[in-house]
Amino acid sequence: MANLAINGGEPLRKTPFHGWPVFDAREEEALLGVLRSGKWWRFAFGQGVSLAEPEEGERSQVAEFQEEFARFHDCAYGIAAANGTATLEMGIRALDLDVGDEVIVPAYTYIASATCVLQNNLVPIFVDIDPDTYNLDPERLEEAITERTRAILVVHFGGQPADMDRILAIAAAHDLHVIEDAAHAHGCEWNGRKAGSFGRFSSFSFQASKNMTAGEGGILCTNDAAMAEACDALLWAGRKVGRPWYEFHRLGWNYRMTEFQAAILRVQLSRLDEQIRHRQRAAQFLSDRLGPIEGVAPLVQDCRTTLHGYHLYMFRYDEQAAGLPRNAFVEALAAEGVPVSTGYSYPLYRNPMFVEKRFINGSFPLGTPYHDDMDYAGFAERCPVAERACAHEAVWIPQEVFLGDDSDMDDIAGAIEKVLANRSELDAG
Ligand SMILES: Cc1ncc(COP(=O)(O)O)c(C=O)c1O
Repeated sequence: MANLAINGGEPLRKTPFHGWPVFDAREEEALLGVLRSGKWWRFAFGQGVSLAEPEEGERSQVAEFQEEFARFHDCAYGIAAANGTATLEMGIRALDLDVGDEVIVPAYTYIASATCVLQNNLVPIFVDIDPDTYNLDPERLEEAITERTRAILVVHFGGQPADMDRILAIAAAHDLHVIEDAAHAHGCEWNGRKAGSFGRFSSFSFQASKNMTAGEGGILCTNDAAMAEACDALLWAGRKVGRPWYEFHRLGWNYRMTEFQAAILRVQLSRLDEQIRHRQRAAQFLSDRLGPIEGVAPLVQDCRTTLHGYHLYMFRYDEQAAGLPRNAFVEALAAEGVPVSTGYSYPLYRNPMFVEKRFINGSFPLGTPYHDDMDYAGFAERCPVAERACAHEAVWIPQEVFLGDDSDMDDIAGAIEKVLANRSELDAG
């Protein structure tokens, strides 16, 4: 008789883990409030449209949310947008870099961290990740800097801030902008200071899986008034405050957030602090449980990470020590009822888009000869940690699971122990 659920045995966990999104009557009221107000867009119709918020009367949900979110994240300005891909693109556009300038990007992240560079006709250069945290490895940064490098884009991956001490120092030494992709890092802290407040700008996502959500949404945060003004203009299609409505000054987009999104997100923000502390406690409990299990090792929480969002809880799986391939382990664990995945299939540069250089039409980047011979597949040699994480090592569990209690964590650890103890069933299969 099989023990493992994947072979027809009883699953260790038969009930669902904690769900997502979390909402209650407050989100309902916020949504209905916008609906009934008839003000579904940031500015009222029929009053002459202006980019400035009215001096008197009710401010928009978007304006309130921008202020509240930015303040919470130690930033002076927030520019709310349609999604976190949009905020990355417009922030980079506002830096006014030259065609063919290079931006350093970690090899292990979501595609938007690199497409925001390409969409601005700039060149992503991939750098490997730290084996303990899966964040951009500062040790590998300087060898990637060339005379064309203008910016370092860090991702606070899974909710753990990148090593901002080292990265800011290297950036300052080479006169580079620092961009924070904080899509996973709502409310997170590095040395007691909010992730998202360190660079020229940061970008957060409110897509459905994120630790705060309105289904979709994003916000750019910055402490730089000129950057905030430029981005505000860019998401209003290049308009300018105080100028005629149909006068356009820059190549921009409609990347605006709706009042519905902002109203939900204001409530979600009020839950953030309690939720992040809950996840942090639960993740610590699970890490303690996983400690003695041979073949699995939680990623390290740096002692300077004073708040980790655990947007992803990740552990490293050692195929040799566990005696079972990672993919077979993860399939068996999922069958036991644990929401678990292997994450990215390969580092960004291995995606067909990069291998075939299928970017904007024409040469790459448009209008310069500098990178004609770029071979993105060649980054594999420079990024062994990202390669290993994708192919053999990384295991992800999503954030909502860590809103559960200790018994949930016990079930996860118990399911891992069960799969490993019965690995011979999988060998046989
Ligand atoms: C690291 C990272 N950056 C950027 C984004 C883009 O955010 P959005 O989906 O809101 O466009 C995501 C979304 O998954 C992400 O994971």
